[in-house]
Amino acid sequence: MTSVLDYLLVAAISVLKMSGAFFKTPQQCRRWNEFADKHKEAMDAVIGDQKDWYISIDELFTHPTYQGRGYASALVNTVVQMADDLHRPTWLISSTPENAVFYHTFGFDTVLEIELGEGDPDWKSSPLVVPVMVRQRKERIDEKYRF
Ligand SMILES: CC(C)(COP(=O)(O)OP(=O)(O)OC[C@H]1O[C@@H](n2cnc3c(N)ncnc32)[C@H](O)[C@@H]1OP(=O)(O)O)[C@@H](O)C(=O)NCCC(=O)NCCS
Repeated sequence: MTSVLDYLLVAAISVLKMSGAFFKTPQQCRRWNEFADKHKEAMDAVIGDQKDWYISIDELFTHPTYQGRGYASALVNTVVQMADDLHRPTWLISSTPENAVFYHTFGFDTVLEIELGEGDPDWKSSPLVVPVMVRQRKERIDEKYRF
């Protein structure tokens, strides 16, 4: 059940996201818009009209001081177990191909790669490659062998 605290948290996050737009340089705004457009295109291509059916993992970060202690794994495991219990697939956009290795261990596969920056005259490096990953719901062994 959604509590008042949940609503307040969502409202606070929305305000923070909106206020972020005021502090962006024009280039950052362009890059953000490019990401938002391609994120939407990827979502349409990969999960189409099943947006409400797929569970998504967004913005997973562990503070550098605490990385490597299993915190992100604990969170991802909780989500994928919940997805399996609900018989639903999960999807995410990994921020880098390197992180895709982390998500592979939980059964996510890369189904599409978004390239960012290739049309931006101010972006001097190679385009950033952002994998779009999907994990199909896994049948548990106790379900498979239930008679
Ligand atoms: C990716 C991230 C969330 C992992 O957080 P974490 O709490 O350190 O993860 P865990 O401690 O649960 O790591 C579990 C395992 O994955 C490995 N792993 C973690 N990040 C990895 C990466 N980027 N590539 C390959 N392996 C990785 C760890 O080495 C560990 O392996 P081990 O169990 O054999 O020691 C963290 O590195 C991070 O915040 N990165 C920057 C932000 C980011 O890229 N977020 C992802 C957005 S899609």
